[in-house]
Amino acid sequence: MSDLAVIVLAAGMGTRMKSAIPKVMHKIGGRSLLGHVLSTAAILSPHRTAVVIGPDMKPVADEAGRHIPGAIAVEQSERLGTAHAVSMAKAALNGSKGTVLVLYGDCPLVTAESLKMLITASQEPNAGAVLAFEAEVPHGYGRIIRNQDGNVIAIREELDATPQERLIKVCNSGIIAIDAEMLWTLLPAIRSNNAKGEFYLTDLIEVGVAAGHRFGLSVCSEAEVAGVNDREQLAALETRFQSSKRTAVMLGGATLIDPHSVYFAADTVVGRDVIIEPNVFFGPGVSIADNVHILANSHIEGARVAAGCRIGPFARLRPGADVGQSCHIGNFVEIKQAVLGEGAKVNHLTYVGDASIGARSNIGAGTITCNYDGFDKHKTEIGADVFVGSNTALVAPVKVGAGANIAAGSVITHDIPADGLAIARGEQVNRDGWAKRYRDIKKARKAAKAKS
Ligand code: UD1
Ligand code: MG
Repeated sequence: MSDLAVIVLAAGMGTRMKSAIPKVMHKIGGRSLLGHVLSTAAILSPHRTAVVIGPDMKPVADEAGRHIPGAIAVEQSERLGTAHAVSMAKAALNGSKGTVLVLYGDCPLVTAESLKMLITASQEPNAGAVLAFEAEVPHGYGRIIRNQDGNVIAIREELDATPQERLIKVCNSGIIAIDAEMLWTLLPAIRSNNAKGEFYLTDLIEVGVAAGHRFGLSVCSEAEVAGVNDREQLAALETRFQSSKRTAVMLGGATLIDPHSVYFAADTVVGRDVIIEPNVFFGPGVSIADNVHILANSHIEGARVAAGCRIGPFARLRPGADVGQSCHIGNFVEIKQAVLGEGAKVNHLTYVGDASIGARSNIGAGTITCNYDGFDKHKTEIGADVFVGSNTALVAPVKVGAGANIAAGSVITHDIPADGLAIARGEQVNRDGWAKRYRDIKKARKAAKAKS
């Protein structure tokens, strides 16, 4: 929307989180609360975005920029209320006309659909609209007061409400959409003569109605606008987020054998005909192409998996794992910062880090890329069609030419030419009859000892 500006209120530290980091930096599905709000806002393509932060909240400002490049963080040095917080953003919006959407940084699961409906409700003949929900237990929320036409005429905070008003179950989510000019004209008229002595944004409605304006209402579910104040609520929203992500992944054509045991990140991309077995965890930055089978108990983050792969059970793909088509990654295999060519197989008990593995190469059980010398990381480059025998240590930096073979148990410290064989281990010596002679001597000594 070309005439939309967004203000996100995020100045609260969130004392009930009992945390050293600001509340909006806590995560759901691997993405910060603020990140969720801003990625939803981004769907509406606002031309300006301001995030109101508290003092010493540079990480929050940086996070805002990561999700909406060009988002401006403005500091509210004193927390004087939601209306005061909004007024801090005025300069950042730089006189923009059209609609201003006010969002809360700690209300992460609101959907773009609800926001679009709210914006529509805020248009003429209304000057603005409020996103509301019907609460089972309305305790603690501002109540929506309406006239006979259904227009909102006031929002009453719990502490300031009469017993009659407290019976109202339609509550304020805090999210509003309002015409920009109206907002900046009405805001200075708001006073702090209420129970908390704060400048309430909710008073905008009464001030506006007194000036002859009308305000609409848009209603969404209570779950959608639930906020986060403590760790228990954070966990409750995580559960809700996971549930809707699982549904989206399944409706997108993937099979989850036990959906409740699979955890996704907000940005996980899963293709069609993917099968995900129980107890699989996805961290941020994962994309899984079509026809991939992820076996039980795998942990995957920052990884790309191309079509037709088989991953796990008990596989760990770490950031920078780039697994080509039809690869097999087996049990107790860890892949980090490594590119695997089509059809490569790393089936058992292996660490591949800072490496490239060519197409169709087979990495034997117990192979380790020794990528770290205690100070620096080094690369292991393995060509196509290479056979690495079991229990090989590849001491990086090292290159293995295409088509080469490495004998099991080797410690490879030099490059191997293409199509060559490398054997780097002690040579075997067989001694005929040695074990029997040894046994006989030992048994005889033991028998003599027992007699004496
Ligand atoms: C607010 C609403 C209430 C609504 C409820 C929904 C007001 C006066 N009340 O109440 O009607 O039902 O949300 O959850 O708006 N913030 C700032 N600077 C400030 C004050 C607040 O940035 O000076 C931010 C907070 O960090 C938070 C949001 O604004 O993200 C809401 O503030 P909060 O104090 O939680 O308001 P509530 O009392 O919950
Ligand atoms: Mg609140």
